[in-house]
Amino acid sequence: MVKAIAKAGAVVTLLLTNTLATADTVLTDKASIEIVISQLTMEEKSKLVVGTGMNNSPLVPGAAGSTLSIPRLGIPQMVVADGPIGVRLGAGPTGGSPRYATAFPISSALSASWNESLIHRVAAAMGDEAKAFGVDLLLGPALNIQRDPLNGRNFEYFSEDPLLSGRITAAFVNGIQSMGVGATLKHFAANNQETNRQSIDQLISERALREIYLAGFEYAIKNSQPWAVMSSYPAINGIPASQNSRLLTDILRTEWGFNGLVMSDWYGVKDPVHALPAGNDLIMPGGLRKSASPFQAVARAPEEVTYEALRSGQLTDEMLNANIRSILGVVLKSAVFNGNQPEGRPDLAAHAAIARASAVEGMVLLKNTQWTLPVGLDRKIAVFGRNAQNFYLGGGGSAEVNADPGRIVTLLDGLSLSGYRLVNNTDEQQLHEGMDPKQIINAANQSDIALISIGRSSSEGADRYSMAMHADELALIKNVSEVFHRQGKKVIVLLNIGAPIEMMDWDADVDAILLTWQPGQEGGNAVADILSGKISPSGKLPLTIPKYYRDVPSYGNFPGQGGTVNYGEGIYVGYRHYDTRHIQPMYPFGHGLSYVDFGYSHLQLSSDSFNLDAEQNITLSVQLKNNGSMLAKEVVQLYIHDPASRIDRPMQELKGFQKVELLPNESRTISFVIDKRALSFYDVEQGGWRVEPGYFVARLGSSSRDIRGEVRFKAINPKAPAISMETPWIEVQTYQQAATIVARYIGDDETNAWIRGTPTLGDKIQSYIDSQPELKADRAKQFELLHALLSELNEL
Ligand code: BGC
Repeated sequence: MVKAIAKAGAVVTLLLTNTLATADTVLTDKASIEIVISQLTMEEKSKLVVGTGMNNSPLVPGAAGSTLSIPRLGIPQMVVADGPIGVRLGAGPTGGSPRYATAFPISSALSASWNESLIHRVAAAMGDEAKAFGVDLLLGPALNIQRDPLNGRNFEYFSEDPLLSGRITAAFVNGIQSMGVGATLKHFAANNQETNRQSIDQLISERALREIYLAGFEYAIKNSQPWAVMSSYPAINGIPASQNSRLLTDILRTEWGFNGLVMSDWYGVKDPVHALPAGNDLIMPGGLRKSASPFQAVARAPEEVTYEALRSGQLTDEMLNANIRSILGVVLKSAVFNGNQPEGRPDLAAHAAIARASAVEGMVLLKNTQWTLPVGLDRKIAVFGRNAQNFYLGGGGSAEVNADPGRIVTLLDGLSLSGYRLVNNTDEQQLHEGMDPKQIINAANQSDIALISIGRSSSEGADRYSMAMHADELALIKNVSEVFHRQGKKVIVLLNIGAPIEMMDWDADVDAILLTWQPGQEGGNAVADILSGKISPSGKLPLTIPKYYRDVPSYGNFPGQGGTVNYGEGIYVGYRHYDTRHIQPMYPFGHGLSYVDFGYSHLQLSSDSFNLDAEQNITLSVQLKNNGSMLAKEVVQLYIHDPASRIDRPMQELKGFQKVELLPNESRTISFVIDKRALSFYDVEQGGWRVEPGYFVARLGSSSRDIRGEVRFKAINPKAPAISMETPWIEVQTYQQAATIVARYIGDDETNAWIRGTPTLGDKIQSYIDSQPELKADRAKQFELLHALLSELNEL
């Protein structure tokens, strides 16, 4: 009997079996999933949880992978393609015939815009291109934390801070998915190095995981519901991420409510029998490794291993059904299932404009002494450095994008197109590192200003070996600066990089520094937009630029040895480390100059107490004014500082930000909601987020080190004061500020004394009272002491 119900508009295939005796119920909607699963053979089940191979889809050649189609059950093939900064078809590792897509700025540049609506537009354009090419799931965004400046994939990631990463990611996912294409958050979790990425075991404390490495994913899952998550390569505390049921099931699904599918990273699953029940629903890419592939070998086809495990009972039907349920849930939402007819012609011209706007907004003006920038279009610019000819627009590996060569605007093209006259390399002169010094003088005589371009390529697959400058680059900067300054002319440096390099040895020599990142196909135009002052720069650093590599928090713990890397810095990643330990960075997190000055005034809190019991959020408002003479944007940043805490906490943490655009002289009041989570730390003992009652400081600034105002408020829990006589003594004694107060009342000796048993604060005070005959006899004095002590402790 024919049971199939065709859903209007859906691609539903009904195939009668050879004998015409039975027909299958095809996939139509959620309700049909269980029936479809019940009709799958063991072999089909084993194949459905494995991709069909790398670069193998007949539908979209050059895509990174695809899923199995089972026409008799109406299950179409879903196609997945990289990546985080543009649709990758036929570029990089997967090969295949190229289709042109828009090459957007690298992820760090996108997040440097701190502009969620812009990110939404960028991602929607990517989603639109994906759909036009027949791609159902994009393999991005990538939001691992930039733990160490040498991680080769930092350029694909957003930030060293989880809140910025999470918010940019949520906007990104919402943008992609607004086009009916799925987003894939990657890599879950802690994919923070390329060295031994497929085998390294990372030792990470629970607190660092929760507060730093998972928090961005948590925010994005809760605020954007991505269709998919990609498990990461490495092991975390001994368990490979793809087999980590605590991460993939308990935390991701049960705690955070994720309801999409989890796929592995490419060749990331070594053991299907443990990966599938742990919650890694789809093993990618499937197919055996080609000998030329850059990945570690998979010993046997995962579908065979899965099939055998099913037959032997090592894997149960129920286990696999859970994986298949997740996969089919996404199939139902997919463009291919819903009748997408990919015509292959996205609007690349419109998207180029978005690429340009996002490149401009991500550029960070690090330094600008005496109004070096903007540079009038009537100025003649001498352009130095090999990098100026070889300006990197994107990164390598799975993030590579095939941009239409006709749409690529190089640095030199962009400067010329905007109207600048350039003194540049000619057959007679090479304005490169190592040139004859006479050529610098010649160039200076012919121009008004020097522009030196310094670059580093960015790529997946290897970590960078150093943050250092090359000797010939240092000599170039020094010599050009000397000659130009002697003539009263200024020197600008462009940093065409994806992650920090050392700047200490040359920063003081130059007048202005613009961090362009790898700005995508419109890079040249975007540099010109900023240089010429057509647009005021508004990017802010999403990471800290340290002075020296030896200053970085993971120094000595990266990339590990003997198969293990120890995340010894714990939660002190990025500015959390530099600020708490008072290490002066080269340029701090959140820094970025503008062509206008912004005034901050009228900082106001809706209440100076935060009732933790009632969870009443408080609001902080500030008036922002554009004191300049051009339209400009500012990123107002909210940092929370907890001046005293039993648990060690970073000096300050980013808990909010807003990008605001203001006309000349315009002012606007903007506000931030401070919720309980903004005050919390992850309490490992209790297994949850917790706030310690007491004082907090909310700071608003233009960077983490340019705070324009701060206000204090008190978090109170009327039902439970932070410290009472019942508080275990060990909690007071290990809380430096509290113990210091107690020591004032009972003396240093008592406070540091050998602890017997498990006394409370009350026990400790009682034993002090017992040792003081006069006090012991005077109940009023005792009461006074207790009262004074407790109120002082609860003022912390
Ligand atoms: C990368 C992923 C990427 C996949 C498919 C892997 O090497 O780690 O980010 O999506 O390849 O190209």
